[in-house]
Amino acid sequence: MPRHKDHFYRKAKEEGYRSRASYKLLQIDQRHHVIKRGDTVVDLGAAPGGWLQVAKELSGGFVLGVDIQRIAPLEDVETLRGDITDSSAIESIKGMIEKTGGADVVICDASSNLSGNWNLDHARSIGLCTSALGIATKILKPGGNFVVKVFQGDMFSDFLNEAKKHFRLVKVYGPRASRKESAEIYVIGKGLL
Ligand SMILES: C[S@@+](CC[C@H](N)C(=O)[O-])C[C@H]1O[C@@H](n2cnc3c(N)ncnc32)[C@H](O)[C@@H]1O
Repeated sequence: MPRHKDHFYRKAKEEGYRSRASYKLLQIDQRHHVIKRGDTVVDLGAAPGGWLQVAKELSGGFVLGVDIQRIAPLEDVETLRGDITDSSAIESIKGMIEKTGGADVVICDASSNLSGNWNLDHARSIGLCTSALGIATKILKPGGNFVVKVFQGDMFSDFLNEAKKHFRLVKVYGPRASRKESAEIYVIGKGLL
């Protein structure tokens, strides 16, 4: 079957989600209960907005999506154009969530365009994850949750150990909606310390 017309691609089309990635967040949340009603959710690397749609459905609260690309408007979802590896992004995010008292959940599905060079793609992924973890630790309320996509490789265990310093519980999860051939895995941090 062509990659772009698999089960979750068709399901997303039928159910009005902007991306098949929506099902990854749904599966992560079903298993790990990261988003609850009323939560403030910040989504890093959010375009085109499939995770934003799911986050809004699950929380019904304040939802902010950040991406270097433009995110087409979504009802009751705030968006910010910015680079999460840029140190100025954090202040812009803080300014936008200020009135909520901070984030309850930070989710990050960010990835650069894959080069096909495993080591390079892994290193870039770890760079994005490290930026996302840095933002999460600065904007999450104590007890807040974190989800981040990582392309696996030899720096993965160091990243995992770093995440473990900041959260009460850290789990690794591969949702069914991830393509079988994909190197991606999700790290879930529960309860910011
Ligand atoms: C796989 S897509 C996210 C899909 C999204 N979760 C959804 O459900 O629609 C990865 C996104 O990460 C974004 N991205 C990559 N590097 C970034 C960076 N440094 N800062 C912000 N966004 C970034 C890309 O522009 C891309 O839109």
